[in-house]
Amino acid sequence: MDLLRQLLFCRLEGKVAIVTGGASGIGASTVHLFLEHGAKVVIADVQDELGQALSDKLGDTVCYTHCDVSNEEQVIDLVDSTVAKFGQLDIMYSNAGIVNNDFGSILHAQKEQIERILSVNLIGGFLVAKHAARVMVPNKKGCIMFTASACTKIAGIAKYSYAASKYGIVGLTKNLATELGLHGIRVNCISPFGVLTGSDIHDETKKVGVLTGSAIHDETKKAMFDRIMGEVGNLKGKLLKAEDVAKAALYLGSDEGSYVSGMNLVVDGGYSVVNPSLFKAIMM
Ligand SMILES: NC(=O)c1ccc[n+]([C@@H]2O[C@H](COP(=O)([O-])OP(=O)(O)OC[C@H]3O[C@@H](n4cnc5c(N)ncnc54)[C@H](O)[C@@H]3O)[C@@H](O)[C@H]2O)c1
Repeated sequence: MDLLRQLLFCRLEGKVAIVTGGASGIGASTVHLFLEHGAKVVIADVQDELGQALSDKLGDTVCYTHCDVSNEEQVIDLVDSTVAKFGQLDIMYSNAGIVNNDFGSILHAQKEQIERILSVNLIGGFLVAKHAARVMVPNKKGCIMFTASACTKIAGIAKYSYAASKYGIVGLTKNLATELGLHGIRVNCISPFGVLTGSDIHDETKKVGVLTGSAIHDETKKAMFDRIMGEVGNLKGKLLKAEDVAKAALYLGSDEGSYVSGMNLVVDGGYSVVNPSLFKAIMM
């Protein structure tokens, strides 16, 4: 029974993980799941109240650390304080991210907007990976993961600045897998389709899903989001949840993914490989 329990429920026993953007959405779901599977987890985020409350709720094998991933000093402190508290770092999940709310034309884009999104989504990912690698390389093992997006597989579901930041993450993943593979470290990314998270909302004026911050608390908007995702999604009868993305992170972070590196694991129910337009036109 103990062995069965260990196989089923403790896939991260003895491991220490950092989840950036861990206070909300996909990150918070991953924190829960990693904890259930026996890991010690550090939640890193800029939403201090939310992150601290989650940590307090989950007990003493979890802690919260304020870390803006675009600030290298804060990333250094995050990694060093994790090693000081828990003695090691096995899994770094670089998940923190922001999006543009505006799907407008590039003709009206502001340079500051793209700089901001790249600084969190791409440079943040780079810094987090750099300092995770700093402590993993001497140990000759470790696992680094990023959250990219299904927009790295198909165009038209995100704005170019967000897509550019996430394509950058895929490039970082593959190239770090090459360099860090020499030291026994696996590097992968996960590319989810649309998920209703702490920051997802359906903008009725633009008729597109954008991440802005309150729909999860609004039943009408939640229902609208679910209806749209159900209609456009390829895999019928199921809506993607943050927990589904967390399960992909669990697979990659655990020994089950022990020979998987350099992969962009797309969690989109097949959306990015299917183009239903011809079939729909024939049926009309
Ligand atoms: N929700 C989706 O549909 C979707 C789809 C594909 C990819 N993603 C990606 O998933 C990741 C998680 O997003 P989510 O949907 O769970 O949204 P979310 O807003 O619920 O979670 C993102 C978290 O990142 C934190 N964060 C933002 N900037 C930060 C910074 N500079 N430093 C540290 N933390 C910061 C936020 O405070 C928040 O807690 C993001 O990288 C996002 O781009 C989301």
